[in-house]
Amino acid sequence: MQAVVHERYGSPEVLQVREIPTPIPKPGEILIRIRATSVTAAEAMMRQGKPWFGRLVLGLTRPKRKVLGLELAGEVVGLGDGARGFKIGDRVFGFTGFQCGGYAQYICVPDTASIIAMPVNASYEEAAALVDGPTTALFFLRKAGIKAGDRVLVYGASGSIGTASVQLATSFGAEVTAVCSAPNHALAQSLGAYRVIDYRSEDFTREKDAYDIIFDTVGKLSFAKCRGSLRKPGCYLVTVMSVEAIAATLWTAFGAGKKAIFAMSINKLAELREIKELVERGKHRAVIDRVYPLAAMRDAHAYVDTGRKRGNVVVTVGHDG
Ligand SMILES: NC(=O)c1ccc[n+]([C@@H]2O[C@H](COP(=O)([O-])OP(=O)(O)OC[C@H]3O[C@@H](n4cnc5c(N)ncnc54)[C@H](OP(=O)(O)O)[C@@H]3O)[C@@H](O)[C@H]2O)c1
Repeated sequence: MQAVVHERYGSPEVLQVREIPTPIPKPGEILIRIRATSVTAAEAMMRQGKPWFGRLVLGLTRPKRKVLGLELAGEVVGLGDGARGFKIGDRVFGFTGFQCGGYAQYICVPDTASIIAMPVNASYEEAAALVDGPTTALFFLRKAGIKAGDRVLVYGASGSIGTASVQLATSFGAEVTAVCSAPNHALAQSLGAYRVIDYRSEDFTREKDAYDIIFDTVGKLSFAKCRGSLRKPGCYLVTVMSVEAIAATLWTAFGAGKKAIFAMSINKLAELREIKELVERGKHRAVIDRVYPLAAMRDAHAYVDTGRKRGNVVVTVGHDG
């Protein structure tokens, strides 16, 4: 089968389309013919072997996982002995987790993986864009105990987690302020934002006691910077790991004061089910910026490296011949 392989860390040039053996499902596994995957900000970092502490898991000098790919949509084409919950032909979407492997024509995953039936009204491209951003957004907003009437500020509102957060917080009945650059204001408003702020010309941290939740989806802020803008017992959420984020999370874990929360969304089954239902009810949609074929994976990564993608970058996986 075709796959995009990387043997070393570096620029998008390290990604190579190669023929590798098609996997065979072991007991308890399902074989998926992948139709679409994506390039997330996290994979662009994994390709580079950054941050350095990530290499403790990814491989110190060379990547242990040669085929990246965290999100996928496709169909079940094989079942290992005893695999439950799926049948041949099921259209599925989900998250490969630390195993990766989505940049390929086929993948085997355990039947317990974060993979479920696709929303009936979604294409493969849309389904691949409904995994990491929306499930991570939901995971964090639930951690903050979001409720109707909350004032929620989403920083990085035009990214993958950001576009999902604006939609989800709005559907929970919160009043959403979206922070992103001016060219992305119309997008944020179309997703439900009540107010938009351009971080290049306006500093929201001057607003005191203004928000119940500040969701830093791109890790560009800090608890110390946002604390004054939270109204008690507000919550600062951050998706990107740093010493400051971990220290603030530990420091504020106890007591009734304002909280900082950094966490990792890994098992995504519960969130996937909820997102599927929201999509089928017309309450959530995939935000797709660009679509590339598998053979253009380098271009897709180069675009994500700009840090300016809007929503999600999807990669289609062909099966001709
Ligand atoms: N903790 C977890 O479980 C978890 C799970 C998934 C992902 N993550 C991490 O979450 C982070 C965000 O992921 P993502 O996929 O949502 O990102 P993304 O889609 O790549 O974010 C792109 C957006 O970032 C905005 N941006 C760039 N620089 C900015 C700045 N200085 N200030 C404000 N906005 C800025 C851009 O908007 P403008 O062009 O409008 O500026 C762009 O639309 C990544 O670091 C990823 O590794 C964590």
